[in-house]
Amino acid sequence: MNEELANLLRGMPKAELHIHIEGSLEPELIFSLARRNRVKLAYDSVEALRSAYAFTDLQSFLDIYYAGASVLLQEQDFYDMTAAYLERARQDNVRHVEIFFDPQTHTSRGVDIGVVIRGIHRAVQDATAASGISGSLILCFLRHLSEQDALDTLEQAMPWRELIVGVGLDSSEQGHPPEKFARVFARCGELGLHRVAHAGEEGPPAYIETALNLLHVERIDHGVRCLEDPALTRRLAEQRVPLTVCPLSNVKLRVFNDMKDHNLVELLRKGIVATVNSDDPAYFGGYVNDNYLQAFSALPLTQDDARQLARNSFSASFLPHADKERHLSEVERFFAGAA
Ligand code: ADE
Ligand code: ZN
Repeated sequence: MNEELANLLRGMPKAELHIHIEGSLEPELIFSLARRNRVKLAYDSVEALRSAYAFTDLQSFLDIYYAGASVLLQEQDFYDMTAAYLERARQDNVRHVEIFFDPQTHTSRGVDIGVVIRGIHRAVQDATAASGISGSLILCFLRHLSEQDALDTLEQAMPWRELIVGVGLDSSEQGHPPEKFARVFARCGELGLHRVAHAGEEGPPAYIETALNLLHVERIDHGVRCLEDPALTRRLAEQRVPLTVCPLSNVKLRVFNDMKDHNLVELLRKGIVATVNSDDPAYFGGYVNDNYLQAFSALPLTQDDARQLARNSFSASFLPHADKERHLSEVERFFAGAA
């Protein structure tokens, strides 16, 4: 890839729509929070922890990711983690983020859900005041836990309903199909929450279909396995259902063996509203610009694709219409200046 295109990717205004805030915990911050909270870790050093980041599939990652999150106890911990991510995102010219958080990972350890939400929310407010970056929160249910646990979590979050833009579904996909959470998502719909779900990452295309039909989701997180089903692919394109694609994550978790094998180009050519995101940047070797740069280095993607992906990131967001238009105008000005 030439340096001109690399600079466009770095400089273009963008939104990030698929980032698990617990996946932004860098090993250094994990160790400093462990010291602050007197939490014992299974690793002796930052280097030992980092060297354990050799994943073979989604579950091998999740085991380490949940262990890392065990250092989060106080509101300030959630604040510090979120503030560090937002500053890093700002450096990548991210203008808006929709942040996933996993409350059950914390409430199961006795941390109040209010501690989690207030810490993350306060960091977003301060970052917006300081730099103008905007952010909203998406509460994710862990799909390996029960429907009842998800319903209880939703109830616990109700005092903070106004601080949450939507709900998602994450964690171990295989064997935990979307229909397990149909009633939870129906309740979320009644509450006026936006709905998204991880589907078709490791799981089959059928999970994408049931997420759409039974959970009524507006976006699919990952969704890269949709191409195995031509009718589903056409539906996603025609109904303009965005996919939040995470290229580095897909390679690290062996959804694709190599970035050269990633299907991002094909998704775009089939008219799918694909976006590029980092998923768990501290674990997968890069933040959002690293995802753009490595995908564009390995694949035949062009400047027009860069512009389309920047546009998609805002049009697929849950921002109000006027804010989307403002960001889309900035994208157009940026690329007009580059022409
Ligand atoms: N939680 C954090 N990252 C995830 C991913 N890539 N898939 C499912 N659950 C997750
Ligand atoms: Zn994810």
